[in-house]
Amino acid sequence: MMRSIPVVPARMAAQQSRMRRVSYVLLAVVFAFSPLAKAQTEETPDVLPEGPGRDETFYGCTACHGTAIIRQQGMTRERWDETMRGMTEKHGMAAYDGELRALILDYLAANFPPRRRAPDNPFLPQ
Ligand code: HEC
Repeated sequence: MMRSIPVVPARMAAQQSRMRRVSYVLLAVVFAFSPLAKAQTEETPDVLPEGPGRDETFYGCTACHGTAIIRQQGMTRERWDETMRGMTEKHGMAAYDGELRALILDYLAANFPPRRRAPDNPFLPQ
């Protein structure tokens, strides 16, 4: 039965391609949990609002922590100034001064200002 012979390699090929598909899925799962995948999801400057000083702020501030800790703040320029001083004095951040410091502070103050208070509730006794 010469005719049935090609059937076997065909089925084997199908099986092999199924196995290959399964191993791609496995690879993807393994990769998702690997440190390599983690490196790929690291932040880039565009997580911060656009504006002058964004890149300087990003690269200056994310050597030690992510941007979430910054983005969740709302402060005046003075408080940002104190925060920057704290990063240097307490945590060993490079001491920025001059134009670069001003650029970063302007950026932080413009994009992460103190949050507005909720409007007064007119239904409460004044
Ligand atoms: C040399 C490391 C380092 C650098 C660079 C750095 N920080 Fe920090 N920062 C820390 C550490 C350490 C903490 C406190 C621990 C934590 O909560 O992760 C912190 C906490 C903070 C906090 C939380 C509130 C507070 O005062 O603890 C803010 C806001 C902050 N950093 C802003 C900044 C900004 C803005 C920059 C860039 C101008 C910056 N950091 C750069 C190390 C650093």
